[in-house]
Amino acid sequence: MTTPTTSGTSIGAPLDRIEGRDKVTGRARYAYEYPAEHVAYAIPVQSTIASGTITRIDCHAAIAMPGVLAVLTYENAPRLSENVSLPGIGTITAEMSILQAPAVSYRRQIVAAVVAETLEAATEAQRLVRVEYQQDEARVELRPSDPGLYRPTPTHAYPYIPDDSELGDFDSAFAAAEVSLDETYTTAATHNNPMEPHASIAQWQDGQLVLHHSTQNPSWTRNVIAAVLGLPAERVRVISPHVGGGFGSKIIPQTEALLAALAAQVCDRPVKVAYTRQQMWSLISYRTPTIQHICLGASKEGRLTAIAHDVIQQTSMIEEFAEETAVISRMMYAGANRRTTHRLARLNVPTPGWMRAPGLAPGSFALESAMDELAIRCGIDPVELRIRNEPEVDPESGLPFSSRHLVACLREGAERFGWSGRDPAPGIRRDGRWLIGTGVAAASYPAMRQPSQATARADPDGTFTIKIAAADIGTGARTVLTQIAAGSLGVELERVHAEIGDSALPPASPAIGSTGTASWSSAVVAACRQLRDELGKRDGAVQPGGLEVSVDTTDEISTQKPLSRNAFGAQFAEVQVDMDSREIRVPRMLAVFAAGKIMNPKLARSQLIGSMTWGMSMALHEESVLDREFGDYLNHDLAQYHIPVNADVGSIDARWINEEDPNIGPTGAKGLGEIGIVGAAAAIANAVYHATGIRVRDLPIRIDRLIDAATATR
Ligand code: MOS
Repeated sequence: MTTPTTSGTSIGAPLDRIEGRDKVTGRARYAYEYPAEHVAYAIPVQSTIASGTITRIDCHAAIAMPGVLAVLTYENAPRLSENVSLPGIGTITAEMSILQAPAVSYRRQIVAAVVAETLEAATEAQRLVRVEYQQDEARVELRPSDPGLYRPTPTHAYPYIPDDSELGDFDSAFAAAEVSLDETYTTAATHNNPMEPHASIAQWQDGQLVLHHSTQNPSWTRNVIAAVLGLPAERVRVISPHVGGGFGSKIIPQTEALLAALAAQVCDRPVKVAYTRQQMWSLISYRTPTIQHICLGASKEGRLTAIAHDVIQQTSMIEEFAEETAVISRMMYAGANRRTTHRLARLNVPTPGWMRAPGLAPGSFALESAMDELAIRCGIDPVELRIRNEPEVDPESGLPFSSRHLVACLREGAERFGWSGRDPAPGIRRDGRWLIGTGVAAASYPAMRQPSQATARADPDGTFTIKIAAADIGTGARTVLTQIAAGSLGVELERVHAEIGDSALPPASPAIGSTGTASWSSAVVAACRQLRDELGKRDGAVQPGGLEVSVDTTDEISTQKPLSRNAFGAQFAEVQVDMDSREIRVPRMLAVFAAGKIMNPKLARSQLIGSMTWGMSMALHEESVLDREFGDYLNHDLAQYHIPVNADVGSIDARWINEEDPNIGPTGAKGLGEIGIVGAAAAIANAVYHATGIRVRDLPIRIDRLIDAATATR
């Protein structure tokens, strides 16, 4: 239910989600729930080897099963276009090239698919497909000594390029530094697990492919699927009004939509595909594990003179994916001499991909842990150390910051958290069996806008409609865009309806990189202002056919002043560690952000505390454990892959300062879906050190890691 508002006041109001009631009563339909007559079900058959070639596929037993309609393999599946490049998207991922060749490059790669009348028949028949292989030696483990480490092609532009950067003379400055730090930090592979798994229904209707599909971007998905199938984009439509989370894993269309489309084409009937929770660990993109080497050199007063952040991560045999892990070290702190590098190992693993705050989440763990260690070595309070290294301009690009209120966030956070008077000595505070510690870390995330189009429409009944192929992946985008439209039109919220989540609407950028609100609202505001002007010229009269205006923000965004645009934040955490069992609890997390103008405080808070909770999860729980022998993840379900439950989350508080930044966009919104995870894991790791005196540089901070370290130091 929406709260009635008066015109002009809807932006910034803490409104409930417009579709909230539909969601909690089950009326909101997700991709897999759409009715489709005469529907069939497709299930992938996945390889049992990590490297090799299919020598034979025996489908006889599967085909003979009652209800089985087809078994698709590389021998009979329709041919797909490969290496297609699309404007704004780049070359389409090779992971999309399913069922085209006998090569196998990772375990549980799709090698066949069964289509059947029922899910049960498909599931059973899938077990009867016999695949024989010629097996090759596989390499599955990320090692710092991998001889094949290589520099990624610097083409990948979201949100920064994960290439190399250099300024000044790092080596000399580091050698000459009065205080120095040279440490290696690692983070585990972790897997995206949105509540709604990846799902699609494909229906061919009069030569048009209609996909009900769970996606972060109806427009891109349409373009990619059309290109791969060799169709003009107009012949594909992607409908996706409600999405139960994506976190990056639903940006690039995943194989489920393509599998459904191919099966629907072959069987000439609608086909549903939904990946199981277990399949998320092989068919869905994940966060690469990282090995991060950080070197810091500083004066005795803690002023940084040398900063290096060298990262090793993995990609697959079929595709290059590089995450921008070290980019946070390019802009967070001042320092004349600096270097960042990214190196990739090609392994027999699925291609990694985006996961909430790609790069910056693991990168900030390393940098912000290192800053804590440096503070201790310099004998300076870690909040003060960060303030001392505040840069005047973006240190590597030399660009002015559009706004940078990190110091304000640190000060306000310290005040609210009760930081002052903190004794830095580790392992000395106790409450019964619990050792107590506190930690701090800084956060940042780029504030970007992507080009989008939008249409605003007035109807004679006094209502307004905004149309934009935006995606509400659970963030509240529909609500916020309605608020922004009502505010721009100067009408009550109840008179405005937002149509989103459909590629038939004006093309929009994806829900990507926390850019949704800023990007889509730029188009919505422009369309609404033009519509209001048009209505003004006509004294508000709307003809029976209605009045529509459409805008495209491509030109406006491409002529933006070059500035370093980022959101900032300060994360604080308190932990308790059991003296003997080393059980870790997090009674308190508090963060203060500078994230531009907040469009809806209720939704903003949800995004931020959700992200902070994920930061805790990253610090203490999440780890996809590699099976070194077979090249698969051992804990591929939510029983064995740990995530925090309610009882693990103590008091968690997300706040923001009032930030006005005229250089962001027409609404002043910076985006805040991802910044909440940045720095959160480091704040917890720093608190664990403060509680125990044990520095864990490998995530997650498992109990055994704390016990091993405790034993080693005894
Ligand atoms: Mo975000 S990882 O760009 O969905």
